[in-house]
Amino acid sequence: MLNKINSVIIETMLKNILGLVGSPRRYGNCEIFIKEIAQHFNFEHNLKLIRLPELNIMPCRACYGCIMGNPCPNRDDLERLLKTIINADGLIITTPVYYFGAHSIYKRILDRGFLFYNYLNDTYGKPCILINFYGIKDRIGASPQALMVFAHSLGLKIKASVSIQAALPGEVLFDNANKEKAEKLAGLLFSDKGIENRYGCPFCGSEIIRMVKEGFICTVCHGHFKVDSAGRRKKIKEGGILGPPEHMFRHRDWLRGMKERFLNSKKEIVKAISGVRDKGEWIKFD
Ligand SMILES: Cc1cc2nc3c(=O)[nH]c(=O)nc-3n(C[C@H](O)[C@H](O)[C@H](O)COP(=O)(O)O)c2cc1C
Repeated sequence: MLNKINSVIIETMLKNILGLVGSPRRYGNCEIFIKEIAQHFNFEHNLKLIRLPELNIMPCRACYGCIMGNPCPNRDDLERLLKTIINADGLIITTPVYYFGAHSIYKRILDRGFLFYNYLNDTYGKPCILINFYGIKDRIGASPQALMVFAHSLGLKIKASVSIQAALPGEVLFDNANKEKAEKLAGLLFSDKGIENRYGCPFCGSEIIRMVKEGFICTVCHGHFKVDSAGRRKKIKEGGILGPPEHMFRHRDWLRGMKERFLNSKKEIVKAISGVRDKGEWIKFD
């Protein structure tokens, strides 16, 4: 009896950590650094890993079916991935930088993000760490933005977003400073501390910002802000896209309204496109 109680206690204390490996490369930096971070956890844990580029993730068909409560016509690995995320207590999300951006698997998953709404109540608030690996000094491009959008769209709580230079597989561990970084990140995942936000968007911390005439718009949360002559960031207005589920569900409601609008506008659409509809010749590859 005592043994059974003990094992129940241990199981409830045991944390499920999910490592999302954004690289196809075996023993690459994404994979190895997740394992290094897990070395430093000072609590009982299970480390599960998914190599994302191996998943079968099909393109969104833009049918809006899932928005209206219907099953997704794509039969692939996406919903299994989302269920696995639900079972995790915390996530380590990694990508290699490829051509100044994150690995395309993140965009492929994100393009199916309407389906996230079905899982948002269960994914919301799970802590995560985001890590970008890049090979050439300063050539990180927009990669951190992709991981941030991925995490925010699932309602995950970003505890850190870091970019580390390491080109060869496993090179991240050549440098002891990176081992120390891994230890720090391990301590952050379940801590009370939030993402450091000293330079980026004053709302969400993203450093990938769009310049407009009046100031800046964050490419993640779409908050508007300015920077004064002393370098201080001044919030202008929130983006109104990301946030707790009830907030994000407002966008789903808006999309549902658009589906209605589409159905009511069919005649007008047919008329508007009639002049150009059949122009050009489609090339199909076998
Ligand atoms: C197709 C490809 C594109 C890459 N593009 C960039 C890049 O734009 N900027 C950069 O700094 N490194 C780039 N790299 C280097 C990788 O980001 C780097 O080797 C990283 O450590 C890979 O992570 P991994 O070891 O987990 O696979 C590229 C590598 C490949 C294979």
